[in-house]
Amino acid sequence: MGYAVLVSGAGSNLEALIKAGVGAIEVVVADIECAALAKAKSAGIDTHVVPYQGDRSSFTSEILDVAGDAEALVLAGFMRILGKEAIARFPNRIVNIHPSLLPSFPGLDAVAQALAAGVKVTGATVHFVDELLDHGPIIAQKAVPVLPGDNACSLHKRIQIEEHALYPRVVEALLAGRLSVEGRTVSWS
Ligand code: GRF
Repeated sequence: MGYAVLVSGAGSNLEALIKAGVGAIEVVVADIECAALAKAKSAGIDTHVVPYQGDRSSFTSEILDVAGDAEALVLAGFMRILGKEAIARFPNRIVNIHPSLLPSFPGLDAVAQALAAGVKVTGATVHFVDELLDHGPIIAQKAVPVLPGDNACSLHKRIQIEEHALYPRVVEALLAGRLSVEGRTVSWS
């Protein structure tokens, strides 16, 4: 058994997971045609596109069908919100990576939000997915300083370097059963 990776974009986090050789990626699922799919194909991983057609519940059911007997869902730049069916089927088995230190700057353009707020430190967060956007219990975070002259692109690049190191470590721990959740607190063993 392995896990499914959900993507919508460039796929650099997917690539980091592939390179790290963490567990087995059974399938890569996208809601749109995107560069991440080509990365999956060139690694010999099965891919599917499930377009969002306006109904979250049927979209989620289709994704769950494609995920088959995967043991976890790993969201890597996936730009859709999954329905409650997914949370029920994978309790504390869905993770997401977000380019800010949550709970600061959830949602779109997190890096630009951090710059606009003038923070001196931002970073990356990996968290369990619940029914709210960028909200579930936090598993791991890495701080990244905001440097003078940074723009969204330069800052996001440095955040992504940290993401690519962080996400494989978290997925490995998840698959090994080393993460436990009590309320909003995640413990590593
Ligand atoms: C990452 O920065 C991630 O934090 C956010 O979307 C970006 C995806 O990048 N959720 P990639 O597609 O993995 O390159």
